[in-house]
Amino acid sequence: MSGAAFIGTSNRGFAQQAQEEIRRLVEAPVAFQWLVPNEIFMFTFSTIGNQEAIDKLQERQPVFLRHMQPVDIERDWQGSDREALQWIGDRLGAAGESWAGVRMAVQIRKAEQYTGECSPSELKQELDRVLDSDFAAIPVVKEADRILSVFLTDGKLFAGVSKPQDNLSDWSGGAIRFRREDGQISRAKFKLLEAEAAFGLDFAQYRSALDIGAAPGGWTSLLLERGLHVTAVDPAKLDPTLLRDPKLTWLQKNAGDVTFASGAFDLLVCDMSWGHRQMAKLVKGLLYALQPGGTAVITVKLMHKKAFQSLREAIQDLSPGLELQQAKQLFHNRDELTLFMIRSEQ
Ligand SMILES: C[S@@+](CC[C@H](N)C(=O)[O-])C[C@H]1O[C@@H](n2cnc3c(N)ncnc32)[C@H](O)[C@@H]1O
Repeated sequence: MSGAAFIGTSNRGFAQQAQEEIRRLVEAPVAFQWLVPNEIFMFTFSTIGNQEAIDKLQERQPVFLRHMQPVDIERDWQGSDREALQWIGDRLGAAGESWAGVRMAVQIRKAEQYTGECSPSELKQELDRVLDSDFAAIPVVKEADRILSVFLTDGKLFAGVSKPQDNLSDWSGGAIRFRREDGQISRAKFKLLEAEAAFGLDFAQYRSALDIGAAPGGWTSLLLERGLHVTAVDPAKLDPTLLRDPKLTWLQKNAGDVTFASGAFDLLVCDMSWGHRQMAKLVKGLLYALQPGGTAVITVKLMHKKAFQSLREAIQDLSPGLELQQAKQLFHNRDELTLFMIRSEQ
């Protein structure tokens, strides 16, 4: 069967870039329709099927498309949970699939202006109950075998079932949440936590990190918690709670004014609040200090309306010393994205 429909989600303001990526990566005629302007949209292919679209997008790793979910059901809807349960139940009962023992996560989102009488949390409760009682599936929140994704607007209901890896993220809408800790130094810490998960890294495996543009110290605090020695460079002050840590060296300087031994670090992270070209110049000047094969995680500020150009220029400026592994706009990135790179061997 051909024809495939999905809901795509990007960070707010970057949906046009996500749509451009879909066009480029899938290379098949595609139609778009807004659900939430500049953030959430339907995308529909008439000439290819679901799996082909999923495979192409997964394999080519979109930067701005944060999350996708299949649309197997699209119905006009007056907001009653009975109708919703009926359609979704019919979908689950169709095609002879057995859901017995399958770990199912129900993820429900709604358009901002949704005013329907049936609330997403009530609908989720009801669906969890039906999955258990009628299908012998196991309702779960994490580590699901399948995700049942539902999107509600005033007047329409969209739903579909997929494997978590086919959604690009197993979090609802790709909105990964971390618990805020007591005494947490900065929200920026979430960016590095998300980068660690998104790029499949384990910072505990590294020995010694250079953190460029470290203040007030959210990234530094995470790396210290993971057991690394950290050299933090920033003319601005680090949070005083960090300064007691014997594994921390703080150089209260501009990153253009510091020198290190060659290959002193196996991890370089940079979250400097500078334009992408100045950032790349400073990082390039310090690359000798990252050992060959070492990892770099770098935030790139995006020029307004020229996101692809900023990305291209940053990658070009940092090469050949750093080879791109993956670029991704993380949920915790604002007008920026994050690069995961490896120091080349020469
Ligand atoms: C967004 S903040 C970094 C937040 C940090 N990652 C955290 O988790 O707390 C950007 C930092 O870059 C620093 N910065 C800007 N230019 C710099 C330079 N030339 N050298 C070193 N640090 C710089 C700023 O002082 C600022 O503290």
